[in-house]
Amino acid sequence: MAGYQARTCDRIPHRAPKYMKILAIETSCDETAVALMEISGPMENPEVKILGNSLLSQTHLHEEYGGVYPNLAKREHQKNLPILLDKTLKEGRDKRQETREFEIPDIDTIAVTAGPGLEPALWTGITFAQELSLKWGKPVMPINHMAGHIYSVLYKTEPNSKPETLETKLEMPALALLVSGGHTELVYIKDFGVYKILGRTRDDAVGEAFDKVARMLGIPYPGGPKISKLAHMARSKGKEDELKFPRPMIHSQNLDFSFSGLKTAVLYKLKSMDPSDPSTQEAVARAFEDAAIEVLISKTRQALKLHGGGIKSLIVGGGVAANTYLQEKMRELSGEFPEVTLHTPLPSLTTDNALMIGIAAYVSHMSGGRALHDPSSIVAQGNLLLGS
Ligand code: KG4
Ligand code: ZN
Repeated sequence: MAGYQARTCDRIPHRAPKYMKILAIETSCDETAVALMEISGPMENPEVKILGNSLLSQTHLHEEYGGVYPNLAKREHQKNLPILLDKTLKEGRDKRQETREFEIPDIDTIAVTAGPGLEPALWTGITFAQELSLKWGKPVMPINHMAGHIYSVLYKTEPNSKPETLETKLEMPALALLVSGGHTELVYIKDFGVYKILGRTRDDAVGEAFDKVARMLGIPYPGGPKISKLAHMARSKGKEDELKFPRPMIHSQNLDFSFSGLKTAVLYKLKSMDPSDPSTQEAVARAFEDAAIEVLISKTRQALKLHGGGIKSLIVGGGVAANTYLQEKMRELSGEFPEVTLHTPLPSLTTDNALMIGIAAYVSHMSGGRALHDPSSIVAQGNLLLGS
């Protein structure tokens, strides 16, 4: 499948202007998000100024389905996009102290997530971007959602506070552990925009496993954050582990993951326990989190060793990057490799958002990607790969 801004060849040096005004749109799953931003400076350390940023989460609507229901997501995105656009542009006008409403906003490009994700959801963002492009005469950049999760670490100031540049540069080559509801993958980033997938899950994504275990315990979607809290409570009580679950593929000779066996092990264990009992919930959450995170860390260590000293940055991105136990273990892991600097997104940028799509568009622009003046060729690609 063709990637848009991702390329397998080496980066071609070019003279892209180091300044861009971007309107970014994200609708790949159950978050509708629009952001207006100005980005300048080098890719390793850009200055990101947010002029407007709006997000509407639909997670509560999908609770009863135990996961995201694609057609409901599509309807909600269609309803929310015009509202969020108006809100974002108004915020932008207020920040720039513009008193009158311009017919065409002052932007260089529109950036929109083209994949991976749920295709009906992706299409709403793409169609919206195409319509705006026609109306405003602005080009569109199709962006890979996973590139968004990678470059989310380039934003280091909480939204709506004053802009600040990143103190630690994001140096290449880098290794990224991408962990979300739909993905679990280890990506080698030789240079900005040059990716190689080293390993990925063969079945469930780790976020999905968190959500499914939560559901077994009667916790509504998305249960990842609640499982993490329960596991933390169990650990803080200082009790010995009462349960132990398998660590699938931990000793395999490759960098792939598998989480469905772990999920099934939890399901079987719960047959002899009361899932609504608070102490059972804590013990199960802890044992599950211990197993899942040990596998993530072990495979990441294997990948760092495989690249024997070449890697300068370690990135963790995606919704599960909000998990404090994973963050703690990633800090310990990066301590084993003194030449590697760990980069984690701010909590507000771990789950899906439009800021990361705008930042990925800037990286794409700076590393040779083009905005399309005729965006009619952009299509939703549910399985879009990085580096393909
Ligand atoms: O990146 P994201 O917002 O959406 C996708 O692209 O999938 O990730 C959402 C996933 C959900 O599965 C959610 O349960 C999980 O991230 N998640 C967590 C935590 N916060 C969010 N999983 C474990 N611990 C957390 N603290
Ligand atoms: Zn995501």
